[in-house]
Amino acid sequence: MNHEVKNGIYWVGAIDWDLRDFHGYSTPKGTTYNAYLIVDEKIALVDTVRQGFFDEMLMRVSGIVEPEKVDYLIIDHLEKDHSGSIEDAMKVFKNAKIISSERGKKGLDEWYDNKWPIIVVKTGSTLSLGKKTLKFLETPMLHWPDNMMTYAEEDRVLISSDAFGQHIASSQRFENDMHYDIREDARTYYANILMPFAPLILKLLDKVKDVNIQPEIIAPAHGLIWRSPEKILEAYKRWSMFESGPKIVIAYDTMWGTSSRMARLIAIGAIDEGVEVRMYDIRKSHISEIVSDLQDARAFALGSPTLNNGMFTSVGALLTYLKGLKPKNKIGVGFGGYGWAGGAVKEITEALKSMGLDTIEPGFQVKYVMKKDDEKECIDLGRRIAKRIKE
Ligand SMILES: Cc1cc2nc3c(=O)[nH]c(=O)nc-3n(C[C@H](O)[C@H](O)[C@H](O)COP(=O)(O)O)c2cc1C
Ligand SMILES: [Fe+2]
Ligand SMILES: [Fe+2]
Repeated sequence: MNHEVKNGIYWVGAIDWDLRDFHGYSTPKGTTYNAYLIVDEKIALVDTVRQGFFDEMLMRVSGIVEPEKVDYLIIDHLEKDHSGSIEDAMKVFKNAKIISSERGKKGLDEWYDNKWPIIVVKTGSTLSLGKKTLKFLETPMLHWPDNMMTYAEEDRVLISSDAFGQHIASSQRFENDMHYDIREDARTYYANILMPFAPLILKLLDKVKDVNIQPEIIAPAHGLIWRSPEKILEAYKRWSMFESGPKIVIAYDTMWGTSSRMARLIAIGAIDEGVEVRMYDIRKSHISEIVSDLQDARAFALGSPTLNNGMFTSVGALLTYLKGLKPKNKIGVGFGGYGWAGGAVKEITEALKSMGLDTIEPGFQVKYVMKKDDEKECIDLGRRIAKRIKE
């Protein structure tokens, strides 16, 4: 039960095996809520767990120290999956003081009618626990205003809050103990939670060096702990620069099959040109899965039939979700079936353009059903997109 991260620093979180949806994002592997206990002359707990998991966390803490002896509860992030057990925890940690950022303190006042003693810290502030020194790094908007990270200086363990996490419930605690490369899960997590903040991440990666944080271990708030920090730091850098491969994501919805046939023919053209194709029927796939695949794709082809002069609601939902994630460095194209005046392809093209995608215009629409010429045009569109990708 005892999971030592390093030298008196313990994982004391909880495993949520059953979670399948995390605020609208699909989590087929569940998740963990990671809390870390740092034991020295003084004892600090970094974060708590989601409400309902407090007993599991307390059981783990009790296996290491008497809970009443916890001196500090550090709140790196206010979101409920981490702060949800504060009230329960502070009842047990009778003598503890809370440590948070200034914005964290404001949030604690708003959310929990903060009645606890609190110490506010800033980037560079330190707290001595005896032999160990904790240093704090504010990371506003990664991904909430209150976020900060806690660095155990002597042990070089960076407790990184939501950054560098993954939604995986597992018995293993360390990334290198897993039977597969979890960077794919880390990328899914990044795409759905951190992509909008890519410019801030690039700044953070520089800042970490400025404040002399050189972690040997990165311990995020979800999923597995990184013993090879460069693995995930290098990936975050690549992802935040929107590096993409010769890959196109094609997503569509359809009523009577014209738009789906178009999608398959576009794919044939692109495959002929040697580009990797990923295909999604939007109604059969979760939007979070589609945007994860799109994260490192160079092009996005989105298809919708016209319904009452506009696009399908499923396509609109995907576009709304994508807009919030602020994708960069992508080619976009719309396509779809129509009957009389059309409208969906124009709406899709405008939406992609307004998000900053480099659109191929005017896209392509097919009246009612495919004719021979339409088939050729679709294959040709696939080829044209592929050529743009390879430029
Ligand atoms: C309920 C309904 C509403 C439609 N509204 C429009 C419309 O407003 N404008 C238009 O051009 N076509 C409209 N259509 C025709 C479809 O867009 C056309 O049949 C198209 O080829 C369907 O593509 P799909 O086979 O991919 O579903 C409508 C069809 C249905 C069933
Ligand atoms: Fe969060
Ligand atoms: Fe979280």
